[in-house]
Amino acid sequence: MKNLLTSTYPLIIIIILWSCSPPPERIGVASPNGRVTIDFIMSETGSPVYSVSFDGKPVIQPSGMSFEFHNQQALGSDLELISAENSTFSETWEMPWGEQRVVENNYNQLDITLKEKKTPNRSWIIRFKAYDDGIGLRYEFPTQEGVDTVVIMNELTEFKLAGDHTAYWQPGDWDTYEQLYHQSRVTAIDATKYRDHPDLAQSYIPENAVNTPVTMKTDDGLYLSFHEANLTNYAGMTLKVDKEQLALISNLVGSDRLGYKVKRALPFETPWRTIQISETAGGLIDSKLIVNLNEPNKLGNISWFQPMKYVGIWWEMHLGNSTWDYEGSQSMSTFAEGGKEGSGRHGATTENAKRYIDFATKNGINGLLVEGWYTGWDHWVGFEDREGVFDFVTEYPDYDIEEVVRYGNEKGVELIMHHETSAAPRSYEQQLDTAYSLMKSLGIHSVKTGYVGKIIPKGEYHHGQWMVNHYRKVLEHAARYQVAVNAHEPIKATGIRRTYPNAIAREGLRGQEWNAWATDGGNPPEHLPFVAFTRMLGGPIDFTPGVFELTLKPKANNQINTTLAHQLALYVVIYGPIQMACDLPENYEDHPAFQFIRDVGVNWEKSITLDGEPGDFVTIAREERETGNWFIGSITDEIARVITINYDFLPQGKAFNATIYKDGKEAYYKDNPGDYLMETDTISNGETRTYRLARGGGLAISLMGE
Ligand code: NOJ
Ligand code: CA
Repeated sequence: MKNLLTSTYPLIIIIILWSCSPPPERIGVASPNGRVTIDFIMSETGSPVYSVSFDGKPVIQPSGMSFEFHNQQALGSDLELISAENSTFSETWEMPWGEQRVVENNYNQLDITLKEKKTPNRSWIIRFKAYDDGIGLRYEFPTQEGVDTVVIMNELTEFKLAGDHTAYWQPGDWDTYEQLYHQSRVTAIDATKYRDHPDLAQSYIPENAVNTPVTMKTDDGLYLSFHEANLTNYAGMTLKVDKEQLALISNLVGSDRLGYKVKRALPFETPWRTIQISETAGGLIDSKLIVNLNEPNKLGNISWFQPMKYVGIWWEMHLGNSTWDYEGSQSMSTFAEGGKEGSGRHGATTENAKRYIDFATKNGINGLLVEGWYTGWDHWVGFEDREGVFDFVTEYPDYDIEEVVRYGNEKGVELIMHHETSAAPRSYEQQLDTAYSLMKSLGIHSVKTGYVGKIIPKGEYHHGQWMVNHYRKVLEHAARYQVAVNAHEPIKATGIRRTYPNAIAREGLRGQEWNAWATDGGNPPEHLPFVAFTRMLGGPIDFTPGVFELTLKPKANNQINTTLAHQLALYVVIYGPIQMACDLPENYEDHPAFQFIRDVGVNWEKSITLDGEPGDFVTIAREERETGNWFIGSITDEIARVITINYDFLPQGKAFNATIYKDGKEAYYKDNPGDYLMETDTISNGETRTYRLARGGGLAISLMGE
């Protein structure tokens, strides 16, 4: 059936004023290609109801929208439709760095203005945007008489599903995104099973809800992912699973300290609630809906930050070879070592930093992260709440930051600052000026921040409005000092990098470090095949790939559950403008496969997801900016697979010298992870090749122009 809404909307704005003309049959908006449609109706009780379809088939069944407040009656019924306004928008914009350079941003918009029929006669605006790759909806609370502030107790945006889809989800944790992903039907989701993980310094799962992005596959093979865009001065959204209604319902992260979810002065707009829609799983990865729903770059030229690879005095600490603290025996170090006391093995020494710089410079790597160089680590006991422990300008006696910077400058390696706040944001805010002034004086242009532990003040959670505002404050502050931020234990990525391109990457997932010390067996092989279709839809990731010594010799009970070729493939599959070569220099030294890490790009002209299924496998090809070289990464879960790559994406008339890094015949993530093979080939547009990936395996290919 042809949808009434699929005809193209005129380029002019159509405003329908209900007071002057009778309502048409349908109010709605269709995406530029007409395949995604949003319909809007007012229910008999005067409540707004929307639904979403793809090719005329329901994606979201008629679903309601309402708010509950502390200081006012609920908003969502007894409303009158004042106007419905359609408009259209089209632009292209450029990412200063990213998985592609040019982004198309084309959508049609519908703005609904409502007013309560009874006192207090509040006005309310609902905005819908229909894109070819999904939809966004947000609320606006305009300036109005008698209300200057709202205290939101609940936002109830419903997503009534059209079926009991297969979901790829992680628990709706208010304090961390470092939970594993699970696959089940929506009605089988039970997030509460994952409370109290022994390796999490913070975790709070109050309800049967999921964190976003949450991805789904319908029985008809359509892929959906639910998330939010432009999370600004608002609480992060989890989605509560309502099994009876077969619905997801927004459940904002709260504050036990303040007793509400969000407090805002009028006028304001909420973040966009988003649904990415694609006929292929890979289409979700290639979709730019989340960044498109953010505002343009506010920082202008940020050429002081350049995408880069980096090494770090980091993995050796997680392995327990050295410590963050100077005297030994305190929090992070004992944790990483599984309870062993450390001492006299301080990792951040001037000498050690120079060793890493020498390694970096020899291999064309431009950054060095040094953790544990500043005082405080000896007093951060048991991840307990503490204010004022860390001091981001005072070195331990065996580290001379100026000398490290000087040496790095000489060798073309820039230092990356580290600030572990221990989840004491007020302490951090007090130090922002001194800490960032030090960076400025040393010419340091990026910082890795960390928020391990429960937030002080008590009752706040990592993903609540108070912390959302803290993370933004740090980002804005950093921008004033020409510093880019890589936040660990962050607020989730919602496309803010478009507006603040100094938001370069973040963690917000179970990173590589878990493999060094997790007591639950580490990240399973399916972890990153899930991440690519869930967490990665939010934005760039600092996963820290590249472990070559996969058995983790110093750690009897831990190993990496992937093959070496899988580790290489991650440089392409898991997008971030900074990519760590995380293993110890001695594990890379003289290793032929390290050539891939030397060669692989970090800034892309174009990216194409060639194939994949959430939690199973994924293959991505990316073209490097400036060089025109292509790189391919493919990873699989615990199942071996044969994949076929059709090289029709390569430019025509050009042969590429390919180096293929693949799993060896005996490769198996469990007991032979290091078995790999290197081969060369010459490949041109239109050719096809078949490759085998081992259990937990991968494939990495560099294609350099002749
Ligand atoms: C957690 C971060 O994710 C990790 O990379 C870092 O080493 C520790 N915090 C210490 O700050
Ligand atoms: Ca972490």
